[in-house]
This record gives sequence, C-alpha cells and structure tokens, in this order.
Amino acid sequence: MIANARKPGGLAKVLGPFDLVLMGIGAIVGTGIFVLTGTGAVTAGPALTLSFVVAAVACCFAALCYAEFASTVPVAGSIYTYSYATLGELAAWMIGWDLLLEYGLATSAVSVGWSGYFQSLLSGFGWHLPDALSAAPGAIPGKETLINLPALCIMLLLTAMLSLGVRESARVNNVMVVIKVGVVLLFILVGARHVTPANWTPFMPYGMNGMLSASALVFFAFIGFDAVTSAAEEVKRPERDLPIGIIGSLAGCTVLYVIVSAIMTGIVPYKEFLGIDHPVTLALQRAGENWFAGFVDLGAILGMTTVILVMAYGQTRIIYAMSRDGLLPQRLSKVHPRFQTPFFATWLVGIVFGLMAAFVPLNVLSELVNIGTLAAFTLVSVAVVILRKKRPDLPRAFRCPGVPVIPALAVIFCITLMAYLSWHTWVAFGIWMAIGLVIYFTYARQRSLLN
Ligand code: ALA
Repeated sequence: MIANARKPGGLAKVLGPFDLVLMGIGAIVGTGIFVLTGTGAVTAGPALTLSFVVAAVACCFAALCYAEFASTVPVAGSIYTYSYATLGELAAWMIGWDLLLEYGLATSAVSVGWSGYFQSLLSGFGWHLPDALSAAPGAIPGKETLINLPALCIMLLLTAMLSLGVRESARVNNVMVVIKVGVVLLFILVGARHVTPANWTPFMPYGMNGMLSASALVFFAFIGFDAVTSAAEEVKRPERDLPIGIIGSLAGCTVLYVIVSAIMTGIVPYKEFLGIDHPVTLALQRAGENWFAGFVDLGAILGMTTVILVMAYGQTRIIYAMSRDGLLPQRLSKVHPRFQTPFFATWLVGIVFGLMAAFVPLNVLSELVNIGTLAAFTLVSVAVVILRKKRPDLPRAFRCPGVPVIPALAVIFCITLMAYLSWHTWVAFGIWMAIGLVIYFTYARQRSLLN
C-alpha cells in the first residue's frame, strides 16, 4: 500500500510544484467566488469578508493535516489512500465513498455556475437559450426549465479532454488558470476605484448567525486544494511538492477572496445581490464598467472550466485507487494503453455527474458538496493524530505544527460550519453514507485485494 515506485501499467510521473500550485488554484477559484458570493452577500452583508476568513481558517487547519498526510504516504487517491494505510479498510472506504460525493457533485455544481456565466455572456450578444434548456427543473422560480444543457455539454467536452491524457490537460489548465487569476486581479484594480465605503455599514446586519451561515456556504469557494493530493502518484517529488502545492494555492486564494468580496459589497449594497447568479459582473456593470464586465464573464467561464477539469481529474484518480485495491470493479482502474489515463472511469464519471449538473439546482449541489468535504476534513484531522500515535516512525517530509491542537481546531471549525447547513443536506448526506456502508459489506469487503 505504501509505495512510491511506478508500477507497470501505473500512471506517468509528469507533475512538478508549479503545476501543483496552478492545479490547486485551478481547483479553488471558481463558482464559489464567481457565483455563491451573491447569496453569501445577502446572507452575511459586508461581513461576507469575515465569512471567507472563517472558512479559510477552517481550511488552513485542515490543509496542514492534509499536507502531512500527503507527504507521508505519496500514492494516488487523496485521503482515501492515506486513510487506508492508517485507519484500515472500512474507514478508508467510507472516506473514499464520501470523496466520490464531494468531487463528483463539485464538478456538477461548477458546471451549473459555468452555465450561468456562459448564458450571461451569450445574452451580451443578444442570444438567449430557450428557458427549457437553460436550467435544471425547478431551479428558477416562475420559469419552465427542464434541463441545464450548457452544463451537460461542458462536462462532456472536458471529459473528452481528460480522457486523452494528463499532460495535455495540465498544460491547458495552466494557461486557463493564468487567465482566471488575471481576470480576478482586473476586477480588483477596476472595482476598487468604485467602492463607496458607506455600503460597508452596517457591517454585520445579520449578526454572527448570518456571518457563519454565509461561511458554511462560501466554504465551497475553498474546496479543491485537496485535489492536489489526489495527484500524488503523478508528482515528481511528492514529499516536497505536495505541501507547497496545497498551502501555496490556499493562501493565495484567501487573499483574493477577501479583497474581491470587500470590493463587491463596497460597490453594490448587499441586499441587491438577491437572486443574482453573476454577482461579480453585476458589480462592474453597476460601476459602469461594461467593457470590463464582459472580460470578467469570459474569465469566469475559463476559471470555472479549470475547476471542473481538476475536480474531474481528482475524482477519476480516487476511483482508480479504490478499484486498484479491489473495492470497486477492476474495470475502473484499467489504464488506456495509448493515453495512459483511466479511460473508462473518466467517461463514467463525466456522464453520471454531467447528468446531475443537467437536472439538479446549484444550491442543492453546493450544500451537499460542502457537507461531504467538511466531513472528509474532520476525518483527516482525526487521522493525523491517530497516525502520529500508531506510526511515529514513518518519515514525514512535512509535519503539521501543534499536533494535537491544530487538528482539534480543524475538527471544531469544520463541525461548526456543518451545523450551519440545512437539515435536508444532512439527511441526503446520511443516506449517501448509508448506501456506502451497504455496498461495503455486500460487495467491496469480499473483493478487497488487500484484505
Ligand atoms: N472551489 C471551487 C469553486 O469555487 C469548487 O468553484
């Protein structure tokens, strides 16, 4: 299980630290900042900036734990693999099963955000999709919507790209990340001139409750730094590069988010973001910067494209690892002889979660992703402490500082944020995990190659 050498038929080692930081930012900056900030501003008011800080602190504690894991057991599969080595098969299965939900639905949720900005860009040219094809059923009150066609199309297109090879995808990803960060910086530079500080008062109109509810929602904006860990087996020097990738990308994004949300709520009074699915562009339009708004539309589209790519990539690598261990059907870990990718798994994931994007509204998707991720973060933070006790001998290129205090803080922050999610989300999450348990005891356990 704990191995770093490339096995015959394994994945090629092609990624360096720069690829990883870009991959992290590629996974992080997306629907969270471009779309969910609208609802976040309505929920928290200008204190949305604080909501981002709280979510970032939670992620930072979890990231330190992640980085230790990632530099201890460098094989593909994200925390699924790390927990297999430390907590045993059942815990690993449950975490892997949870991650399937997180990564899969995250690709769906971001495709829906992508679709919103894509349609906003089209409308700039006077083109409009028929209502029926523009969103999932019930997504827009008062509109007869049937299917989110653009969301489905982008998922299938990116699936095709990923199935053709990691190297190509990483290169395309790097270019798009540069454009995305450029557009966010452009928003900051242009928007800062139009801020009216009076819009920042009252700063916390809905108190701590509003601020923390928004934090549980915009937590989504930070999801993705962990996708970096799922690429461990394709990294040239994982023990050094993974911690750089995780912490570097997380820190950079936090700074960007706080500034962007301050400027947004400084330009437009927070109440006016109600029901807006392209809040960043709206702020620029209000400022009279229509030309820049078009640019941001385009950048947001590219930005969200990279998020879908990285998430879908992470998803297939987790499936690859679980299948290689025998917990999922062997077919899912078959590497394509020519493209060197898990071809079948990539397409399976693309089609299933493309359909979710087509038929489920964004708020439902993003809350589910958040609860799955927060649960995974909680588990990994506990696991870091267990591993220190059980295997103090293992070499760790990166050691989480302040164990057990930092992991304990990570757990407290994550559970607090989970408490602010709706009960529907809790029920759906419970059902998903229960299905996972049933599959484990009726299928996976008997077939495990490592048991
Ligand atoms: N953090 C990613 C986003 O905001 C999932 O889109």
